Formats: sequence, structure tokens, C-alpha cells
Amino acid sequence: MAQSRFHRLDRFIAANTEHSRNDVRLLLAQKRVLVSGETATDINQRIGPFDRVELDGQVLQDRQPVYLALYKPAGVVSATKDPHDKTVIDVLREHGVSDHQLQDLHIVGRLDKHSTGLLLLTNDGEWSRALMAPDTKVSKVYDVELENPVEPEQVAGYVQAFAEGMYFEYEDQTTQPAKLEMLDRHLARVTLTEGKYHQIKRMFGRFRNPVIGLHRLSVGEYSLSGLGLQQAGQWCELGRR
Ligand code: URA
Repeated sequence: MAQSRFHRLDRFIAANTEHSRNDVRLLLAQKRVLVSGETATDINQRIGPFDRVELDGQVLQDRQPVYLALYKPAGVVSATKDPHDKTVIDVLREHGVSDHQLQDLHIVGRLDKHSTGLLLLTNDGEWSRALMAPDTKVSKVYDVELENPVEPEQVAGYVQAFAEGMYFEYEDQTTQPAKLEMLDRHLARVTLTEGKYHQIKRMFGRFRNPVIGLHRLSVGEYSLSGLGLQQAGQWCELGRR
């Protein structure tokens, strides 16, 4: 998996100071290097974009904003903590992201427990708000498997209802215009520019057509295929925004 911005501590110090990689062992023995506040002891320690690195009290790298993309598996919750269920943070941890890197991340537009696909995480609140606020009109594209077939003569009615927006009493709001295409009788592609609670399930609920599978292909410019995320559990960094 892409971990391009992770570097071994000795390489990191050699690249960012006048010291050579050979000097680093001595620097560590002299306790002159701190990584995120802890005295470093291992030249092989991996330095990620989240880490603060100091040499003799001088900051070589401060904590950075982080942008991660995960191919969310089914059956895990889009939460950072949960008393019962496995979370997307647990998935990232299992796939090599350290606790330190994971701290302070939040989720940019949740997916339901049984939904799969592209999930973005960051510690940059401005970026996540820009992606999710309805007025910025960032497209989120989903493939939706439906329990009941949508017959050809019903398609126009579905498309119109999605495009016009649906009034949701609980929020006292009408959904933004959404695009619906039928890829086959049981498979729809839906494009939303917002993310209300269970939005797609509730929209098909108006037609008494239960959603039995939901997969997010993309959020704005980021897509699973464009990022090379092919299997559930894979993740990558998006780099600086
Ligand atoms: N709409 C839903 O109903 N569920 C999701 O996971 C995403 C959008």
C-alpha cells in the first residue's frame, strides 16, 4: 500500500540536517532526538507525516495535516470509537497505520456499517467541511443494489423524484437534486452532493424498494479506481491538499 511519506528515522535525519545516516546512532545514544515528544532509540523507527521530529530542541518536522483514503469493508462502522463494533480506525490500524498517526482523525462523510467503498479521513476540518457541505456541491457517486427490480416504465418516475429532491420530515429539509441512472433492473448509480443520514436508503424507501448493497465509488475528484484501491481494507495517503 502507498506509504510514500513514511521514512526511516536515520534517512529522515540525514535528509533534513547536516548529519549523515552514520551519525544517527550516536545522536540517539545521546538522547538528542525526540519523535512526537518521546526520546527516539531506534534508527529504523518509521516517521510519518503525523510525527513531530526534534533534534537538540530544534523542530525538523511538525505535525502535518493528514488526508487518508480507505476502501471501507462491509461490517465495520464509520466511527473512530465504538464499544461493540469494529471501526474503520481499527481497519487502518490492522493495515499498518500507527495509533499516533490515527489520533485526531475524523471521517469525511460516513458510510453505513454494511456499505462499502471510498471513505476519506483527515485531521483537517476545513477540508472535510468543504467536501461535505451541500453548498459546495461536491459529487459523491454510489452503486446501489436494490431488492426489487425497477421496470423500464418505472425508471422515469424514479429519476424525476431523485432530481426534484425529496422532503425529509425529520430534518425538515428537501434533498438537493440527485442524479439516478439504472445500470440494470436491480442496480442504480446515484450521484449526491450531500450526505444526510441513510440518505440513499431513505430515498429508495419512498418507492418501497429496500437497498441491499451500497458502494461508494468516488467523492469529488477522488475515486477508488483513480487511487488504485482495489480491495476492501486498502488505504493510501492523498498528500497535501
Ligand atoms: N446513503 C445511505 O443510505 N447509506 C450510506 O452508507 C451512504 C449513503
